[in-house]
Amino acid sequence: MVKVLAIETSCDETSVAVVKNRRILSNILATQVKYHAKYGGGVPDLARRKHKEFLPSVLKRALQVSGATLSDIDVIAVTVGPGLAIALEVGIAKAKELAKRLNKPLVAVNHMEGHLLAVLAKNRVGKGGYDEKKYLPWLGVLISGGHTELVLVEEVGRYRIIGETLDDAAGEAFDKIGRMLGLGYPAGPVIEQLAKKGRDRFVLPVPMKGSGDLNFSFSGLKTAVLYAIKDYVCRSGRVCGLKEVASGQVELDKEFVQDMAFSFQKTVGLALEQKIKSALKKYNFVKAVSIGGGVGSNLYIRSVIRKTARSFGLPLLLPYSKKLYSDNAGMIGVAGYLKYCRGEVVADVDELDRQPSLRVEEVSSKFKVKS
Ligand code: KG4
Ligand code: ZN
Repeated sequence: MVKVLAIETSCDETSVAVVKNRRILSNILATQVKYHAKYGGGVPDLARRKHKEFLPSVLKRALQVSGATLSDIDVIAVTVGPGLAIALEVGIAKAKELAKRLNKPLVAVNHMEGHLLAVLAKNRVGKGGYDEKKYLPWLGVLISGGHTELVLVEEVGRYRIIGETLDDAAGEAFDKIGRMLGLGYPAGPVIEQLAKKGRDRFVLPVPMKGSGDLNFSFSGLKTAVLYAIKDYVCRSGRVCGLKEVASGQVELDKEFVQDMAFSFQKTVGLALEQKIKSALKKYNFVKAVSIGGGVGSNLYIRSVIRKTARSFGLPLLLPYSKKLYSDNAGMIGVAGYLKYCRGEVVADVDELDRQPSLRVEEVSSKFKVKS
């Protein structure tokens, strides 16, 4: 049994987990969302400050809840990228300090590998979590605030991006449309709730329909929503500048917002459905589809992906709890444990640095050293 202490500070959640093999014993999260909300997104400098402030108590609590002490820890795992550079640095500095102080191996984890492997995580008593042997190779659908990627999971530790967004990520699109609709940040969960009361009133362009590849682009959809709102406001005879609309400064009635939430969410679903279908046709050897990333907690989006997978006779792999979709250190602990098992530990702790633009394919290429 290997006990991993995992640290995640890539964006605006400070999180520490203790993981025993694939079992998550504790997964503590201090969200900074309310501090970033007024800026409409994650602000790097603020994130750095808050990570520094929250990390000691989150670490303490993670140990407490897990029932472990620092001396029980065998491995330290930390997110090194992708993410906000100066936010990543906070977690990395702490991980280095602990690895040196405890004289334990350090594992550098790719945040996106964490999202991908969240479906392998088990709970405290060993429930949940898939056995990858049954499902490899599988298609991972990563839909977060920073990334939208279709990833071929060839092996645990070997990934190939077969499609990705050329501009905004799916979660980012939810957040930007939410801003226009005056819904605050992050807007994904609010749009999901409003869409339940809405009806399909707006015809929006399905991003990258017919592009012939597996890539996404959500910025055109964002623009279409922007102009639909502007048009609606102008027709009601009010001031309707693009700037005001984009920053959510115009009053919109409840029904309009609900209907727009519905049509927008449906269109994101259609874009995902189309590209996943094309991917499953092209890579017809995959045995399952998995979801990772914050947008995966959206039940409508999940049902679209489930139906798409089923239409190919494939199972949909989901993390065992909602917490594991969004950023959390539990998934980093599980990915870190598996990386440790592959012998991929950091050779020179002092040399470890953040990699803000790390791609999931590079997961094993850097910092890979066999002891
Ligand atoms: O994976 P995540 O926690 O962080 C990143 O790695 O980016 O994803 C955060 C994103 C945000 O854009 C948020 O609006 C979106 O996930 N999100 C949702 C929902 N819950 C979170 N989007 C749509 N529906 C939701 N229920
Ligand atoms: Zn993430």
